[in-house]
Amino acid sequence: MDLPVIISLGVLLGCFLGLSWFAGSDAPFVPTKITRIKKLLKTIPLKNKNFYELGSGDGRVVIEAARLGAKAYGIEQSYLRVLYSKFKARQNTNFIHGDIFKQNLSNADIVFIFLLPKGVEKLEPKLKKELKKGSLVITQTFYFNNWQPYKKILITDKKVPNTPLGLNKIEGDFWVYKV
Ligand SMILES: C[S@@+](CC[C@H](N)C(=O)[O-])C[C@H]1O[C@@H](n2cnc3c(N)ncnc32)[C@H](O)[C@@H]1O
Repeated sequence: MDLPVIISLGVLLGCFLGLSWFAGSDAPFVPTKITRIKKLLKTIPLKNKNFYELGSGDGRVVIEAARLGAKAYGIEQSYLRVLYSKFKARQNTNFIHGDIFKQNLSNADIVFIFLLPKGVEKLEPKLKKELKKGSLVITQTFYFNNWQPYKKILITDKKVPNTPLGLNKIEGDFWVYKV
C-alpha cells in the first residue's frame, strides 16, 4: 500500500476515534469535574450500596463511588469509553456496554445521571417504575421538571453558562431525588 493511502487511512481512523470518543445519543461525552465528583459523593452514604451511573462516560464517577465503598455499576453506550473505564477500573466496579433504557435498575440504591434535559425527562418513568422505595436519584445540571427534588447540592465556583453543552445552565448543580 502506498504511503499517502496509509496516511489517509490513519487520519480517517483518527477522526473516527475522535468523534466516537465524544458522541452520545442522550448526551455527548462531557465529563463531570473530578473535584466536584469527590465533593458530591462525600455527601451521599455509599457504603455497601448499589450505585448505578447511567451514561458512565470514562468511568470516573463509578470509580470514585466504588472507592467510597459502593458496589458501583456504569452503563455506557460507547464501547471505547467502556474499554477505557475497564482499563482504569478498581475493585467493586462493573462497566456494562449498552443502552441505559434497557438496563434493569431494580437493585439500585443510588442512580447518578448527567444527560441532556430530553434524556433526563425520558428516564423519569423508568426510574419511578423500577427503583425501590427510598432509592436516591442524582442528576447533574439538568433536572426533572415534574419531580420535586429532595435536596439541591451546589458545588461550583463557576458563574458562567455551561458552554460545552450550549445551554444556559450553571454547571455544578446536583439535584437529589428520593423515590
Ligand atoms: C454528559 S456525559 C456524562 C459522563 C459521566 N456521567 C460524567 O458525569 O462524567 C453523558 C454520557 O452518557 C452516555 N449516554 C448518552 N445516552 C446514552 C444511552 N442511551 N445509553 C448509554 N449511554 C448513554 C454518553 O455516551 C456519555 O458518555
